[in-house]
Amino acid sequence: MADTYILGIESSCDETAAAVVRSGEKLVSNVVASQIATHQPYGGVVPELASREHLRAIVPVVRKALVDAGHTYQSVDAIAVTQGPGLAGSLLVGISYAKALAFALDKPLIAVNHLEGHIHAVLLEERQKGNRELVFPVLALVVSGGHTHLYLAQQNGEAWSYENVGRTRDDAAGEAFDKVAKLLGLGYPGGPVIDRLSPHGNPKTVKFALSQIKHPDRNDRGKKSDDRPRVDFSYSGIKTAVLRYVETHKMKESVETRRKALAQIAKPKLEDYLANCDKQTLDLVASFQGSIVEDLIAKTLAAARAYDVATLLVTGGVAANAELRQRFEQAAAEEGMPVYFPSRPLSTDNAAMIAAAAFPKFLTQDFAALDFSAEAGMALR
Ligand code: KG4
Ligand code: ZN
Repeated sequence: MADTYILGIESSCDETAAAVVRSGEKLVSNVVASQIATHQPYGGVVPELASREHLRAIVPVVRKALVDAGHTYQSVDAIAVTQGPGLAGSLLVGISYAKALAFALDKPLIAVNHLEGHIHAVLLEERQKGNRELVFPVLALVVSGGHTHLYLAQQNGEAWSYENVGRTRDDAAGEAFDKVAKLLGLGYPGGPVIDRLSPHGNPKTVKFALSQIKHPDRNDRGKKSDDRPRVDFSYSGIKTAVLRYVETHKMKESVETRRKALAQIAKPKLEDYLANCDKQTLDLVASFQGSIVEDLIAKTLAAARAYDVATLLVTGGVAANAELRQRFEQAAAEEGMPVYFPSRPLSTDNAAMIAAAAFPKFLTQDFAALDFSAEAGMALR
């Protein structure tokens, strides 16, 4: 079969991204324009600013992805775009532009679920490495700023389908990283900073109780239960526990000093963070990260056992975390189960994953009508 080149566009949160992927197996170009500098002063993503930044970036980002790939608007075979979940205004920027391109160029338009994209980031890179032997059943942990979800992924012919077997009841793991970093005066986004600081602290200093969820999800009340095992997560408690620790250990003043000092530095380096963190803070950070990592691994492996899974995929922004990767690999190896991660650049939001997830839909001609719209709370099925 001839090669298929898909232009992917992603604008669901705070990165404007475009990429060209060949037949779901080769990353040809990958451009990501981050909005971190815009949102940093507010300590988190401001939706209105995100939409405005996407509007500014979308045309040059797509153009660069095509130029880097040696392609033109005319030479790609299809346009793929994130439909949801994400910020409605941000999604609409990508969707409107993708529709305009598809209409003007008379190319097929493919709508992709962002979470499916994260899963296909792993598959794309494994194929690129020559690993095409994916053994089912496959369990994917999608762990990002907005999601901590477990999916059983199935392939029926070329088409993929997903069954959710676990999710967070409150905060996502990445959200906990971001909130804890913010309350410790470490800035935004929190995950990468906590990742780099953790090896400098003692993870055994503070004991955080891991959440054990036994009661049914209140959101599922009234729904018919099919008695399939579920493994849910919860990360708002650990964030509150860190806040309590800061209060009871009289750390608030040093947090404020650190917040102000780091705000003076345009792009703080590891040495800047270390120079502004005492041992108590570093130990707290390491204990927090260690607990989250342990919980993510324990619950994912519990689900893997419950469903007798053969392969694990771990993806989403938090999958970039060094301790998570290392401990996951070790724990999965002890269970005799292969675990695959995307490379770090493809763990966080990008458009290559959208173009990769679109390829099976291209093959099955699962195209979107030009009047489809953004779905901020889109579920993956
Ligand atoms: O997948 P992603 O880029 O966007 C969403 O779909 O949410 O994930 C972003 C999240 C943020 O919460 C960020 O703090 C977290 O991923 N993150 C990390 C790391 N890099 C990004 N968390 C832990 N360690 C990291 N190295
Ligand atoms: Zn994401």
